Amino acid sequence: MAQLVYPLSTWKEPRKRSRMVRFLERTMSPKALAHSMNKAEEMRKPILPGQGASDYERYLRTDELLALQKPPAHLLHKDEMTFQVVHQASELLMKGSAFELERALGLITEGDFLNAARLIRRANMELEYPISMLHVLETITPYDYHIIRAGLGHGSGLDSPGFLALLHIGPRLGQAFDDQLQKSRLTVHELYRRHAEFFGLHDVAERMLDFDERMHLFRFHHLKLAQRIIGGGVVGTMGTPVEVLHQRMEHLFYKELWDVRNHITEKTIDGP
Ligand code: HEM
Repeated sequence: MAQLVYPLSTWKEPRKRSRMVRFLERTMSPKALAHSMNKAEEMRKPILPGQGASDYERYLRTDELLALQKPPAHLLHKDEMTFQVVHQASELLMKGSAFELERALGLITEGDFLNAARLIRRANMELEYPISMLHVLETITPYDYHIIRAGLGHGSGLDSPGFLALLHIGPRLGQAFDDQLQKSRLTVHELYRRHAEFFGLHDVAERMLDFDERMHLFRFHHLKLAQRIIGGGVVGTMGTPVEVLHQRMEHLFYKELWDVRNHITEKTIDGP
């Protein structure tokens, strides 16, 4: 990041003096002004340990983060930068999302449903980005993608640590929710009928449904991406037919939460 330090020599250069400096010059004594400018300069010096010219770069470890992409000279195609950035950003957000879901699981177990729902909502918001970033990759043409694909080896999204973490937490979250239902001697249908009375647990159920929906949406948009870039009738870099992605879309974590709507509709049509 560019150094923002404003050396004393440039303050004396009338054209370069900022409006703020001119204001301070009018309102402060030269001694007080020099003191506050020195203080401002002092505040810009990093105090955190680590690499980087500023505390921003040190805290976020931007030197390492921004070195994780191939340097331009090593890219097989200019579009490979976008391909890497989208994948890496998705991994980070899936990691963040799975982390919040783990916290939510603990809160459900403790019976703190309002905070659990808040964290699941956050996890779902984090998942919005990997879904929408899939569309960025739709701008890569099939021929250009094959140049990038030549450098992927057997690399496959099946080994995505972020997605695997989400697949791991999903059923455990469902189990923690079922345990709480049992504790309150409720069926899913009863919870939905008495939603005002059991507001917190009902909110958790709805946020879990949002999570399930986002996993489904990720798989749907990812399937469409694969179909338009490599085609729906071929095999992936790990030998998995793209068709398998289609079958995986059938998978839901919380089928009971989806099915309860059928029961409610049937019941209201038949009369209470
Ligand atoms: C040009 C873009 C992409 C193409 C052509 C593509 C293609 C594929 C294919 C063919 C598979 C099946 C497994 C195999 O590799 O053999 C797969 C799986 C997967 N990919 Fe991608 N992918 C793309 C982008 C992405 C992105 C940006 C992510 C985000 C992390 C991602 C995550 C995944 C995941 C999680 C799976 C496993 C899916 C599941 O279990 O349902 N992919 N991908």
